[in-house]
Amino acid sequence: FRCGYDQSFPSAHPPPATAGVLGLGKGKISVLSQLVSAGVTRNVVGHCLSSKGGGYLFFGDNLIPSTGVAWTPLLSPDNHYTTGSAELLFNGKPTGIKGLKLIFDTGSSYTYFNSKTYQTIVKLIETDLKGTPLKDAKEDKTLPICWKGAKPFKSVIDVKTYFKTLTINFTNGRKNTQLQIPPESYLTISNTGNVCLGLLNGSEVGLQDSNVIGDISMQGLMIIYDNEKQQLGWVTADCNKLPRS
Ligand SMILES: *[C@@H]1O[C@H](CO)[C@@H](O)[C@H](O)[C@H]1NC(C)=O
Ligand SMILES: *[C@@H]1O[C@H](CO)[C@@H](O)[C@H](O)[C@H]1NC(C)=O
Repeated sequence: FRCGYDQSFPSAHPPPATAGVLGLGKGKISVLSQLVSAGVTRNVVGHCLSSKGGGYLFFGDNLIPSTGVAWTPLLSPDNHYTTGSAELLFNGKPTGIKGLKLIFDTGSSYTYFNSKTYQTIVKLIETDLKGTPLKDAKEDKTLPICWKGAKPFKSVIDVKTYFKTLTINFTNGRKNTQLQIPPESYLTISNTGNVCLGLLNGSEVGLQDSNVIGDISMQGLMIIYDNEKQQLGWVTADCNKLPRS
């Protein structure tokens, strides 16, 4: 653990007084690297974020299920957890978007795509919403794109039938694996009961061509960063309770 200096917080909302950063990357000062050097854990870290809030974080490989985990290689050298070449599908159909590199970053609340990918997804979603009761809610500034219904929504469950699942098809492994991003993992309900898109334009925040998978899209999944085998794994899980090790 270290003391944090110059911790910038590029957001309209002030950070809580106790804000800090738990480094889980591959760099020498990350908590993971320090635990590995101390010989107390293997060089593996993972987490399970529950849609109800909460979840768990783990070091080492004890909690990883022996079956059902999908894996894809991690690119190295790279300071982030970056996966290689992936293709984007919408409702199970190709979108023409290929060769995506994705950074898995729990430090990001939302998911970001490069401008072209973002534009493609927004168009597909908007086309789908024609003829549904959902209308643009321009007055809602929670996120860049929000929609309102006839009555305020309480939960993403109320609206998910209007939206399709996004699939990331990783094509650079020994075998193709897919990461499903259902509506619950890219939508959020605002304070005024509108539904907002938790996928954002990365070019607007200076990410250039990078794509970042953030917390919103990691809910309900155990995600494993295995720095020994240089691979990233995921499997659907009940993040509200710890699995038996
Ligand atoms: C994404 O952001 C960039 C930079 O601000 C902008 O030029 C581009 O038009 C935006 N793309 C979309 C689809 O909004
Ligand atoms: C994923 O990509 C591979 C390689 O391009 C392709 O053969 C496979 O059909 C794709 N899977 C899906 C579900 O689209």
